[in-house]
Amino acid sequence: MTAALHSNVANPTTPVPSRCGDWALYEYPVVTSTNLVAVNLPAWSAVRADTQTNGRGRFQRNWVSDRDGLWLSAVVPISQDKIERRALPLAAGLAICDVLHELGISPRLRWPNDVLVKDRKLAGLLIDQFVLHLAVVGIGLNVRNRPEALDPALAHQTARLSDLMPRPPELSVLTNLILRQLGQILTELKNDGPPAVLLRVNKLWGSPRSVELDLDGQLCRGLFTGVDPQGRLALSDAAGQLSFYDAHEVRHLTET
Ligand code: BTN
Repeated sequence: MTAALHSNVANPTTPVPSRCGDWALYEYPVVTSTNLVAVNLPAWSAVRADTQTNGRGRFQRNWVSDRDGLWLSAVVPISQDKIERRALPLAAGLAICDVLHELGISPRLRWPNDVLVKDRKLAGLLIDQFVLHLAVVGIGLNVRNRPEALDPALAHQTARLSDLMPRPPELSVLTNLILRQLGQILTELKNDGPPAVLLRVNKLWGSPRSVELDLDGQLCRGLFTGVDPQGRLALSDAAGQLSFYDAHEVRHLTET
């Protein structure tokens, strides 16, 4: 919460939001992190910035947020239902993949919601919960930017839309498509229930992969087989025996 107070220091003037379907969209040239700006906003608000000075990734990593990438955060209500809550990060990954499919791209997901094309990361999601009933879904999508120019360690690790299609849509169009689809999937989650949405998520992992799970220090190997109808990660051991893990039990998943 302290970070949230600081975020407004970096963003002294709040822009007038524009309507983007059901969403109120606040757009900035530069912010610290769109997730931190979004912390003060009500559900169905979204924040987009051209650049972030302190883009945040998972595991406290820095997220390179140079110009011409899509840096977007969406504030959504959190359900009281435990399984719906567990499904939210997975559903958000599904929404991004749906939009990419619309654009003719075939992404896959790496648990829980990294969006990859040919093993390179095209988009990442960071879900923050700053207040009781709201989550901030932070979406970083490489579009025409070149993250490896700022961080050479990212060379050969990242993908961007402009290398995957001749003319990627403008950021405004992508923002619209993603917010619309995120809203749609969250409605599906509420109306049809998590199993229906998770069935669709399970089509996006690609072929079963050998993984190593870091369970808070304890390492565990197996075959990642997707998520169960309750949204738990399913891991098969050499004998085909399945074990299930809640996201908070898994510090990190590495594809081996
Ligand atoms: C990851 O590590 O894969 C998650 C990256 C999430 C980056 C996005 S960019 C928009 C939003 N604001 C942030 O500071 N982070 C997320």
